[in-house]
Amino acid sequence: MMSTSNFLIENINKAITRKEEKEKVARKILEKVKDGDVISAGSGSTSWIAIHLIAQKMKQKGLTIQMIPTSYEIKLLCDCLEIPTTTLGAHKPTWGFDGADEVSSENWLIKGRGGAFFREKINMTNSPITYILIDSSKKVEEFGKANKVPVECSIENLDYITKELEKLGGQEIELRKAISKDGPVITENGNVILDVKFEKITKELEKEIKMITGVIESGLFIDYPVEILSE
Ligand code: 5RP
Repeated sequence: MMSTSNFLIENINKAITRKEEKEKVARKILEKVKDGDVISAGSGSTSWIAIHLIAQKMKQKGLTIQMIPTSYEIKLLCDCLEIPTTTLGAHKPTWGFDGADEVSSENWLIKGRGGAFFREKINMTNSPITYILIDSSKKVEEFGKANKVPVECSIENLDYITKELEKLGGQEIELRKAISKDGPVITENGNVILDVKFEKITKELEKEIKMITGVIESGLFIDYPVEILSE
């Protein structure tokens, strides 16, 4: 992977689990990268690795690429690696890539460990195709067993929202807490995140959660235009 000498990026660069496997799958994205592309860049450690590799290819081949980042962290990384960024207001992505926490046999996704799923979903709905880069731990038989579903909510309506989530079968609802700061995680959109266990995830559940007043978005991605890339 390309090394950076930027203090901020080096200090953000957390320990990456299954790094070798993630690097192998991230390399697969390189063949998609063409001169002039506008690429939606997902968040998480696999995307982080992929962005380093794309930056390397851009330098080696003299490619002109723009990225539309899905989080503040990824915007910082692009700046550090001198990858020009743009917005959905100015450009639509030619294609995109992202990671996932869980992938079902129908290619439904649970995303949002990194808390960036609202923006990730917005970018995904604007990309004709998003390549989902996963290591072998992410493809599951029982969808929703290993991960709770994150739900970004307005802090103003949490009592109502939690009751409505329970009516949909939500259990073990937890307010996501910040690490190294007191209080809840506040998303880049100024909201909080509830992590919710669902024993059964149906095709309708994403829309049903979205209907609750005060819910901004969930980390359920059901039937989006994705292609899964794994080892
Ligand atoms: C962030 C995400 C990530 O894409 C997801 O958590 C996978 O991360 P990683 O590549 O680190 O395993 O949804 O909101």
